[in-house]
Amino acid sequence: MEVIIRSDADAAAALAARLIAARVREKPGLVLGLATGRTMERVYDRLAAMKLDFSACRSFNLDEYIGLPANDEHSYRRYMDAHLFSRVNIHRANTHVPDGMAADLGAEAARYEWLIREAGGIDLQLLGIGEAGHIGFNEPLSALMSRTREKALTPATRQQNAAMFGGDAGRVPARALTMGVGTILDGRELLLLATGAAKAAVLAKAVEGPITAMISASALQLHPRCKVILDEAAASALTQRDYYDWVFQNEPEWESYRT
Ligand code: GLP
Repeated sequence: MEVIIRSDADAAAALAARLIAARVREKPGLVLGLATGRTMERVYDRLAAMKLDFSACRSFNLDEYIGLPANDEHSYRRYMDAHLFSRVNIHRANTHVPDGMAADLGAEAARYEWLIREAGGIDLQLLGIGEAGHIGFNEPLSALMSRTREKALTPATRQQNAAMFGGDAGRVPARALTMGVGTILDGRELLLLATGAAKAAVLAKAVEGPITAMISASALQLHPRCKVILDEAAASALTQRDYYDWVFQNEPEWESYRT
């Protein structure tokens, strides 16, 4: 794992977008794993402005609320269309979000796993983190080997996402379909982006704490190619800051990203 700390949320999102752009240029048929949430909006704004060629890319989103049709204003499908897909030249048929309206959610989860395998696996998975430490919607006690499945959301998660539902946690769906922690760890490269002081405590647990199913993001420590990009506020509870900065300043891989 490498931790890169930038001055503010804009600079952190800019670095994440540059890294994604580099991967798209290196491999036009990149299979992208995508995330939703407010943190990602800045990344998608930047990617849209870069005029990249996404025409050969395929994408798989981490999760979707159960019970929201794709065209619901709160669905993650709608979020993706608005923030990224309608602004770049990706083919809609190549974009995948789990179907939270499927009559058989178990079958939909298995289909999603199969689609990812058929695509050759995810090359680069973008991740945010919830304040309970979830990646995707892998709430506390999600098995570290879990696959795509239905998951009940914690009251805390529904509260955090209430802002998107007019501030009413009761309107946030109680369940979601989400890639599992194991599905996420199968990605060839992982990129977690977190900004803001509200994420500082859980981020420190995920990066520097023990690996535990209580904090699904801590499983990222198992991955051989995982980058964590933070702003100063989200990094404020980390203890090994000097070392992380030294790696960023000295590792050849980061040379073109230092300016
Ligand atoms: C939701 C998503 C997560 C995301 C999290 C953080 O719960 N399922 O994938 O990481 O929100 O969202 P935000 O960026 O708004 O803090």
